[in-house]
Amino acid sequence: MHAWSPSSWRQRTALQLPSYPDPNALKDVETRLAALPPLIFPGEITQLKSRLAAVSRRQAFLLQGGDCAESFDELGQMPVESTFRVMLQMAVVLTYAAACPVIKVGRIAGQFAKPRSSETETQQGLTLPSYRGDIINGADFDVAARTPDPQRLLTAYSHSAATLNLLRALAQGGFADLHRVHGWTADFVRRSPQGERFEELADRITESLAFMEACGFDADKAPQLHAVEFYTSHEALHLHYEQALTRHDDGTGRAYGASAHMLWLGERTRAIDGAHVEFLRGIDNAVGVKLGPSAKPADVLALLDALDPDQEPGRIVLIARMGSERVREALPPLLRAVRDAGRTPVWCCDPMHGNTVTASNGYKTRDFARVLDEVCGFFAAHEEAGTYPGGLHFEMTGQDVTECRGGAQELTDESLASRYRSACDPRLNGSQSLELAFLIADVLKAARQRR
Ligand code: PEP
Ligand code: CO
Repeated sequence: MHAWSPSSWRQRTALQLPSYPDPNALKDVETRLAALPPLIFPGEITQLKSRLAAVSRRQAFLLQGGDCAESFDELGQMPVESTFRVMLQMAVVLTYAAACPVIKVGRIAGQFAKPRSSETETQQGLTLPSYRGDIINGADFDVAARTPDPQRLLTAYSHSAATLNLLRALAQGGFADLHRVHGWTADFVRRSPQGERFEELADRITESLAFMEACGFDADKAPQLHAVEFYTSHEALHLHYEQALTRHDDGTGRAYGASAHMLWLGERTRAIDGAHVEFLRGIDNAVGVKLGPSAKPADVLALLDALDPDQEPGRIVLIARMGSERVREALPPLLRAVRDAGRTPVWCCDPMHGNTVTASNGYKTRDFARVLDEVCGFFAAHEEAGTYPGGLHFEMTGQDVTECRGGAQELTDESLASRYRSACDPRLNGSQSLELAFLIADVLKAARQRR
């Protein structure tokens, strides 16, 4: 195998990267980024890998979720806090139902670069470059916004740093204390049936804590009750940015990606000889790999050999995004091949990206029922292969948006227009996310009881 360096990806074909009008301006920005402090530290990466290793030993469950694409316009406490609180709620629902620790990983604090199926977009006879996420260009349909601007890499770094700072405060500073479980429900969710169901669960948790404390259990000595671990992740798409944020770990002598705890490889950039695989193979982080229905067993095994030659526990999360109609036939051959190769990566289900459709009024949407159906197909395939369905990967927000159809709120094509805010893919809103957590909790509980 040839030598890896943070820049060795530049010798390979790099799909989905923008071409900047002024390469020198890009170089300047890369130099400035390389001098900035890391956003995360190697010890945190090691900790996440040890948590993921527990998932691969069937002792925990991974919950990964957040925006399809974060936006520079949404820097404030509310969007971050609302996503964080729904992740906490989903995790509590799953933990309570399945008595299984839940590892929380946000698609947050760096999820700014988007792969696109088309290079350009045409509106009323005008053709411009596609919107590729705020780290590259703007969503507005005009020449200025759509021209890739390297200054955006610096904005992405600052935005990520501010978001991460807030997340650390939320996770460690009292908000996530289990004694405050009642305070996590947003008002619009509280009024929904799943909000009421969550409040009942919160009552039970509060009563259990009071009971244990009355029996002499000293909650002050149990840090797990007062804070949570929360990790960040994004797609490692923009390799100039990821290279500039690669740092050296003096402890291990290895390189690590300092932009997030976990980085993933997208469905469109996982070519074995491509630049993205080359970059990711050399950094120490936990690495996700998206797998769509075209993935062959041999592709998956080759990716595992390239990205995880030493079979390090917790290093790899395979994220299947097959679509509800394909999962039952497309996933089993991959599960069997990986199992038969003696590999135990975390297997995670992304029930979003194979289920995107266009509504009658032109909105990109997803049906709640198909999302749930893909999760059920994922669990069934694992049951059959004797492998472990280790986690879920969602596009969601804690806010009251109307982007996905269905669910108990029964959102229809007509309702999509009222609060459709995503610049990219449709997300589950706070109440749909919680509803899904309750439904999946039942599936998870049944699966764990059969073992
Ligand atoms: C995504 O997760 O937003 C994404 C683009 O996914 P995929 O690579 O699976 O299409
Ligand atoms: Co998406």
